[in-house]
Amino acid sequence: MKTRDRLRIAMQKSGRLTEPALDLLTRCGLTFRQSRDKLFCFGEGEPVDLLLVRDDDIPGLIAQGVCDLGIVGRNVLNEFQLTGGVDAAPLHEWRPLGFGRCRLSIAVPHDMAYERASDLGGQRVATSYPGLLGDWLRTQGVDTQVVTLAGSVEIAPKLGTADAICDLVQSGGTLVANQLREVEVLLESEAVLAGPQTLPADERGDMIELLLKRLDGVIQVRE
Ligand code: PRP
Ligand code: ZN
Ligand code: MG
Repeated sequence: MKTRDRLRIAMQKSGRLTEPALDLLTRCGLTFRQSRDKLFCFGEGEPVDLLLVRDDDIPGLIAQGVCDLGIVGRNVLNEFQLTGGVDAAPLHEWRPLGFGRCRLSIAVPHDMAYERASDLGGQRVATSYPGLLGDWLRTQGVDTQVVTLAGSVEIAPKLGTADAICDLVQSGGTLVANQLREVEVLLESEAVLAGPQTLPADERGDMIELLLKRLDGVIQVRE
């Protein structure tokens, strides 16, 4: 891995976290030269650049050292910790950022009886989070088949490819639209600043410490 002297932060290219993440970095005093829809944004004042990517790719980019930090949902970060592979460097949640709040929940069709986790025994649950769901099922001691889907998880029960789902819930609109009922919350999530467990021992490490200090100031003011 080539060493860089500029800090590189990965964030979501287009999605719910994009605008609030850019706003937060702006409030931390960072300004960027390229337009917001470009893949790469060059930092003007400080030596801090942005890489705009798919959110699911962010933990891997940090683990590989391609980026130093990332702004990503806790759900994506924790899923990577569980399924990223044995070679993946352990990552750390440096700060919760207070936006992009949602929860990872299990939801069942309205006509399915559900009272406790054991009701999922022998059922199929569709999710994009097999690591987090598998982990929770193990703690509950339930033998359930996990059906991994990249997206459109909410239509799986109607299609007959699963009996229930485990997906992110924010407003609850997606569940209502698909006649699903939320029955368990596995994880409370929000955007977080993710990075390696140990900060680089060079100028980038100093820059990260400065950024953390500014972040704490900005987050404190907002609370
Ligand atoms: C998430 C999730 C649900 C929806 C829930 O998808 O997968 O589909 O949001 O939000 P709601 O409770 O407000 O309806 P998202 O739109 O983030 O996109 P993705 O599934 O493509 O990642
Ligand atoms: Zn996503
Ligand atoms: Mg979705």
